[in-house]
Amino acid sequence: MVNDLSLIKNKKALAWVKEQIALCTPDKVHVMDGSIEEINAINELLIQNGTFLRLNPEKRPNCFYTRTNPGDTARVEAATFICSKKQEDAGPTNNWMEPTQMKKKLHALMKGCMKGRTMYVIPFSMGPTGGKISRVGIEITDSGFVAANMRIMTRVGLDVLKVLGTDGDFVPAFHSVISPLEPGQKDIPWPCDLKNRYIVQFPDTHEIISIGSGYGGNSLLGKKCFALRIATVLSREEGRSLAEHMLVLGITSPEGKKHYITAAFPSACGKTNLAMMNCSLPGWKVTVVGDDIAWMKLNKDGRLYAINPESGFFGVAPGTSEESNPNALRTCEKDAIFTNVALTTDGDVWWKGLTDQPPANAITWKGKKWTRGIDDPKELAHPNSRFTADISNCPVVDPAYHNAPDGVPVDAIIFGGRRETIVPLVFQSRDWNHGVLLGSSVASERTAAAEGKMGELRFDPFAMLPFCGYNMADYFAHWLSFPGKTDPAKLPKIFHVNWFRKENGKFLWPGYGDNSRVLKWICERCDGVVGAVETPIGYLPAAQDLDLSGLDIDMETIKKLLYVDCKAYLQEVEKIRKYHSMFGSKYPKQLTVELDNLEKRLKQQ
Ligand code: GTP
Ligand code: MN
Ligand code: MN
Repeated sequence: MVNDLSLIKNKKALAWVKEQIALCTPDKVHVMDGSIEEINAINELLIQNGTFLRLNPEKRPNCFYTRTNPGDTARVEAATFICSKKQEDAGPTNNWMEPTQMKKKLHALMKGCMKGRTMYVIPFSMGPTGGKISRVGIEITDSGFVAANMRIMTRVGLDVLKVLGTDGDFVPAFHSVISPLEPGQKDIPWPCDLKNRYIVQFPDTHEIISIGSGYGGNSLLGKKCFALRIATVLSREEGRSLAEHMLVLGITSPEGKKHYITAAFPSACGKTNLAMMNCSLPGWKVTVVGDDIAWMKLNKDGRLYAINPESGFFGVAPGTSEESNPNALRTCEKDAIFTNVALTTDGDVWWKGLTDQPPANAITWKGKKWTRGIDDPKELAHPNSRFTADISNCPVVDPAYHNAPDGVPVDAIIFGGRRETIVPLVFQSRDWNHGVLLGSSVASERTAAAEGKMGELRFDPFAMLPFCGYNMADYFAHWLSFPGKTDPAKLPKIFHVNWFRKENGKFLWPGYGDNSRVLKWICERCDGVVGAVETPIGYLPAAQDLDLSGLDIDMETIKKLLYVDCKAYLQEVEKIRKYHSMFGSKYPKQLTVELDNLEKRLKQQ
C-alpha cells in the first residue's frame, strides 16, 4: 500500500523512492510531513512494538526510552566504506570498494528487505530550511526509531519538499535494518542484522546506503554520513565551503562584545561540554549554535560563516552531570529519546554522573534487574549510551541558531586532543597554513586503559579520521586553498588547546567552566588587545595575560601548563612526519614546508 507519494513533486526524488519501493517491497510507505500528530503516532507505534517505553511524564514529559540489541551499540568503522570510483580518491584512511561491486552486494541484501514493514520517506534539511549554506536530503528507512530521531536531529517536513521543488538537488540516503517480516511474524523491539552491517558513502554520486544497524551513529544518515562524509565532498566541489567535526559557540564578554568560535576535538574529547558551558569568569557567557558539526562557507564579505546543520544533540549520556554539563541535562528534560541508559523504578533514566549515587533498584540497559550494593554499577548504562535532544530546549541556545540562517562569522577555529604530556594549554598558530598543520596533526595519547604502547600517539587529523569522505591529503590541500580565495586577514585565527595535561595522573587544568579563561585570551587575541609570547610552536599567553581571578591554582602549575618542551616537540615532529608519510605523493608541499620550518625553529632553541 502506497499512501502519499503524491507529496513528492521532485522528479528525481520520486523516481528514486519508487525504485527503492520496487526493490525493498515494503507493506506501507509513509512520506513524513513533520507534523506533531505524525510524530505522536510514530511514537505510539514504537511503544506498541516494544521499541519505545514512555518515561514518567511527570518527570520527563514526552520522553522515550529504548534499548538496542547488545551488539548494535556504536558506529562500526570496520563496516564503513567510501566507494569512490578510484581507490586513491578514498585515500589511505578509509575502507574502499569499487562502487558497482558494492552496489551489487548491497542490492542483493536489500531485495525484499522491507517486507512486512513500513517504509518511511523522510525529507530533511541540514541547516535552516532554505538557508544559503543548507542542503536537502531524503532518508528512506524501515525503522520507526530512525524516523523519530531524525525528526529531532534534522528539520523534517513538507517545507523541505517545497525548497526541493521539482528539479532541486538532494542527497539520497537509504537505510534498512534488513529484517523482513513474514506474514504473521511478530516484530522484535530492536530489529537489526549484525552480520550484514554496511555504512556506505558513494562520493561520486553523493549517495548513502546504510544497512543492518539501527544504532543512531549508523542510521541517522543526516549526521556523520551526510553532514560530514558526503558534505566534505560537496564542500570541496563547491570550493569555498568546509564541513567539519566542530562545535560552534558564541561567547559574550561582560562589555557585551561577542565572538563566534568553532572547535574540532576528536570524539569523547569534550565538544559538547565546551559548546554549552557555564563560564566561571564572572560576566562571560557561552551560547551554543552546535555541539558536533559545523558547515562553513566564505561569504561575499570575505569572511568564513558557520551554521550547525543539525537541530538536536545526540550526546553521550554517561558523565553528563550537574557539574560537567548542566545545560545538556536541562535540554533533555523533555521531548528526548534515551538509548541504552538505565531505567529507574519510577520510570526515569539514570547514568553515571546524573546523581551521586545510583538508584537503589533499576533495570540495566540490557534489561536486567539491578540492585545497589549487590550488582556492579558499570552494568547500568552502556558507556556509549546516548540522549537525543532538541536544541530548541537548550537553555543556552544562541539566538543566531534561530535568527541567522546563513551562519555566524567565525573569529577563531580551535583544534585539540587529549594530550597528557607535551602540548600546552593553549597556543595560537603563526598563520593559516601553520594552523592547517596543527589540524592535520591532532592526536591523542594512548593511556594505560587502551591497548598498545603507553605514550603512543593516535592521530586523528582535524578530528575527522572516521568522517572524511575523500582522500585526507586532498582534504588538507582544500584547507590550504583558503588563503588564496579571500583576504587572508579575514580568515579566522587558528588556535590549539589541551585541557588534559597531567602530572602524577592528575589533570593540571581544572577544565570545564574554567576553560572560559582560555576562550577569553583567544577573544582578546582576535581583537588584538593582548600580547603573546612567541615560541617555536606558535604564540602562547604570558602567564599574567590569562585571567585566573578567583581560581585556586599556583603559578608553578600555570608554568607547567604553558611549558614548551622543544626536545619533546622535536620527537613529535618525527611522529607527525611518519604518520603523514602514508599520504605519499598527494601530501601537500605546504605541509612539508610547515613541518620543516617548525623543526628549524625547535632546533634553534
Ligand atoms: P562526540 O560527541 O562523540 O563527537 O564527542 P565530544 O567531543 O562531544 O565529547 P564528549 O563531550 O562526549 O566528551 C566528554 C568527555 O570529555 C568526558 O569524559 C568529559 O568528562 C571530558 N571533558 C570535557 N571537557 C573537559 C575538560 O575541560 N577537562 C577534562 N579533564 N575533561 C573534560
Ligand atoms: Mn558531543
Ligand atoms: Mn562527534
